[in-house]
Amino acid sequence: MDNTEKTAVLVVDDEEIICSCLASLLGENDFIAEMAYDAETAWERLLQSSFDLVILDIMLPGMSGITLLKKIQQKFPSLPVLMLSAIDRSDIVVEAMQAGAWDYARKPFDNTELLLTINNVLVEKRLKEEKEQLSSRIPNRSVRKIIFQSDSMKVVKEVIEQIADTDVTVLIHGDTGVGKELVANRLHFLSRRADEPFIKINCAALPENLLESELFGFDRGAFTGALRSKPGKFEQAGKGTIFLDEIGEMSLPLQSKILQVLQDKVCTRLGGVKEVGVQCRILAATNRNLEEEIQKGFFRSDLYFRLNVVNIYVPALDKRKDDIPLLVEHFLQIYNKRYGRRRKISRKIIDELLSRSWPGNVRELENWVRRFVILGSGSAWQNIEAQSDAGTASRLSPRETSHLQEIDLLLAQNKPLPLRKMVKKIVAAEERAYLLQVLERVNYNKKKASRLLQVSYKTFLSKLKDCGIEKVSMKERHGF
Ligand SMILES: Nc1ncnc2c1ncn2[C@@H]1O[C@H](COP(=O)(O)OP(=O)(O)OP(=O)(O)O)[C@@H](O)[C@H]1O
Ligand SMILES: [Mg+2]
Repeated sequence: MDNTEKTAVLVVDDEEIICSCLASLLGENDFIAEMAYDAETAWERLLQSSFDLVILDIMLPGMSGITLLKKIQQKFPSLPVLMLSAIDRSDIVVEAMQAGAWDYARKPFDNTELLLTINNVLVEKRLKEEKEQLSSRIPNRSVRKIIFQSDSMKVVKEVIEQIADTDVTVLIHGDTGVGKELVANRLHFLSRRADEPFIKINCAALPENLLESELFGFDRGAFTGALRSKPGKFEQAGKGTIFLDEIGEMSLPLQSKILQVLQDKVCTRLGGVKEVGVQCRILAATNRNLEEEIQKGFFRSDLYFRLNVVNIYVPALDKRKDDIPLLVEHFLQIYNKRYGRRRKISRKIIDELLSRSWPGNVRELENWVRRFVILGSGSAWQNIEAQSDAGTASRLSPRETSHLQEIDLLLAQNKPLPLRKMVKKIVAAEERAYLLQVLERVNYNKKKASRLLQVSYKTFLSKLKDCGIEKVSMKERHGF
């Protein structure tokens, strides 16, 4: 088997014997294995290279396996992680699974059993990818309609219709949440490229070297750890559209590379020699004022002029409040259907919404409607809102308020609110508060506290570490 087809596994374990056992087991079974003896090194390797699977020990020196698992979940959500630990403790297993581990194996492991677990994880990953590919190929045109009534959005719509079926590069700009991505989607789905891929890449979400390898792909051996070749987003987009979101965040060296692609219509994978023709259409978006960025020396003017063949400015919602009633109706329909409700919004509430300011623009309004559908007008949430609006003291405890803030933040970011994860966080916050209160009562005598709490001193110390209270600051001591 060619190395490029092999599955790349990163093994993270501080025990050399385990690493060497796994290295030979994986090697014999046609995997490419790389070892890291601590979580920090593993994280560096993950940022530099691409792996298909991580086998991760829970107990590690320095950063714990669970912490690394959480970081992986955030940055590489589709990368499967198989946890490994000598400790047979169901609470740790539960914690690992809740933090996003795909599976769990105990040390010492039986080779055949471990290989079977690895295989299952990889099959599960492949099925997930196939499902995602399938669903991304079905354009959901009805959901992606642009709703408006204002004259300024009418202009936007007309420009979209005029240029959708051309190949011009378009720079979409406007504040956060105004609908820039929606405009890019519309441009794609109204074009002849509609049945080809629409590939979005967020230039702000990745570190520079990773963004570069994502965009251009790489050949095997391009950098340490490039164990297999990988096509870049320009290649993946084929004859479709590539959407460079948040282009204003891109570094200057990468901007030059993008300029090159726009000029020559070819790109080369990192470490590669073969030029690949770029056939996709390029759309870009930013919420920065690129002309100001050029003045400050942060953005290349030549790239700006290349991208800005057509410029679409999506105005802030506060500048087109006449869109609000239609948008509210639109989101109400969507979320009533999604949550099986029949909520209605009165004229009085609409008037209230019209009188407010919407710094988060359409996204903020959409989230408002979603919460309204879930919680209703007489709900606790509405009360809280009314209370905070009136500036009166909230009847909720600070901790309850902070949970609510977290809920609102997640909703505003369009993220889910998984019950188990949230409850775990809440329990962890309560546990931390309880430990701090007990510590305060015993004058920070840890031995005494552990006796009162009826846990061993060792367990107590590790609890304090988990809760981040080993180095309790004076402020926190007295603030509680
Ligand atoms: N005119 C509109 N009609 C219907 N839905 C809209 C409209 N404008 C925005 N939305 C919805 O609002 C949300 C935010 O829009 P979008 O992601 O396109 O904004 P954005 O400008 O790209 O935001 P950001 O700057 O944060 O990336 C999406 O769910 C989108 O579908
Ligand atoms: Mg966007």
